[in-house]
Amino acid sequence: MAEKKLVFPQGFLWGAATASHQVEGDNKNNDWWEWEKAGKTKDVSGKACDHYNRYKEDFALARSLHHNAHRLSLEWSRLEPEAGTWNQKEFDHYRDVLRELRAQGLEPFLTLQHFSLPLWLDKKGGWISDELPDHFERFTHKVVRELGENVRFWITINEPLVFNYFGFVEGKWPPGIKDFRAFSKGLRNFFVAHQKAYRVIHTVYEEKKWPKPQVGFSANVTYHAPCRSWNPLDRLSAYLRNQFLNHYFFDTLLKGHIHMPGLLSEKLPEKGTLDFLGLNYYMREFVRYTGGTGAALFGTLSSNTHHKDIAKRNDMGWESYPRGLYLILQGLRKYHLPIYITENGTCVQDDADRWDYLKKHLAVVHQAASEGVPLKGYLCWSMLDNFEWDSGFSRRFGIVEVNYQTFERKIRDSGYRYGEVCKNNTLVLD
Ligand code: FCB
Repeated sequence: MAEKKLVFPQGFLWGAATASHQVEGDNKNNDWWEWEKAGKTKDVSGKACDHYNRYKEDFALARSLHHNAHRLSLEWSRLEPEAGTWNQKEFDHYRDVLRELRAQGLEPFLTLQHFSLPLWLDKKGGWISDELPDHFERFTHKVVRELGENVRFWITINEPLVFNYFGFVEGKWPPGIKDFRAFSKGLRNFFVAHQKAYRVIHTVYEEKKWPKPQVGFSANVTYHAPCRSWNPLDRLSAYLRNQFLNHYFFDTLLKGHIHMPGLLSEKLPEKGTLDFLGLNYYMREFVRYTGGTGAALFGTLSSNTHHKDIAKRNDMGWESYPRGLYLILQGLRKYHLPIYITENGTCVQDDADRWDYLKKHLAVVHQAASEGVPLKGYLCWSMLDNFEWDSGFSRRFGIVEVNYQTFERKIRDSGYRYGEVCKNNTLVLD
């Protein structure tokens, strides 16, 4: 087959993503550390990748791979170890981190909160505490004044659906509650907290006369397919999930109204508090209608092991389904907002499978962009192998391998190949 060159839009941002608790090490003052101590996870995060001390080396690697952007998160529990008490040394640390990114030519995408919460806030109830939105607002205000000078892209909160679902429905993540009302409260607090942070960031930038920032959050989006493709009710469930789950968070913030049928209807003070859409995409899931009306029409997730057309699954059991990303992107173009892929990647034993995954997803990103979807950047998950929450260290998502004994880093072949795409702004398919 002849070589095919897929050229991306000019000025496209390329890079990789991490999150503080997964890479830094010694984040002892948050809810995840407690959860790990209580034996609820496969491993304990411990020193993780020691990225806290090795960030310069890691950014130099990203630079050597021709990245021009990088997503990272702040560890709230370091910056505000007790309610209202700021740790100036940790602000200095993150200031150095951001300066280093700039020095290496990497545009920071800074996440304010990526799953881990300070212990003091966890003790108040975390996401379901009435105080959470105000605490998040105060934290954001302090962070923006201290660190904003070097940041243009802000991701307020990572994957609200995921931490609320695992934390308040399945109970397998902190705080380990199983209560649908708590889940809806957590979602409500996400919307309010995001909106407060959005306003604070813009206000501080205006006061400081800094160039206008771009503020969004990262939504996990998943493509849902009917388990029995011939079954109209399975199809309805899949349709509802695609329409609802992949759009709900954006719709709510853009319309300024939280609507949870039967649970809550609340007007937010503002509409349109999103400057871009941040998407984390990993897989396709199958859904089956199992009876009932109302919320039951959303069906239940079914296993993905028995379908004939199933593609490769990774070590998490997630199926590689690039077309799902394409379809989701097409569905999101109606918002007319810039789109950044803020996470996409896989954990596999054979690195050739990782490159296959990345290449196929990059190809659909290119296709969507060339058809007019306003895609502006792609950040793969992840820069480094890291601590994959309850699943621990065995899930290796990195384009850079980490030796957890010596902390030595080794760029994988997929990392070099992805680096060529970043360098040339072009994916070569052969
Ligand atoms: C996402 C998380 C990220 C990482 C990947 C594999 O849901 O945002 O921290 O765990 O999954």
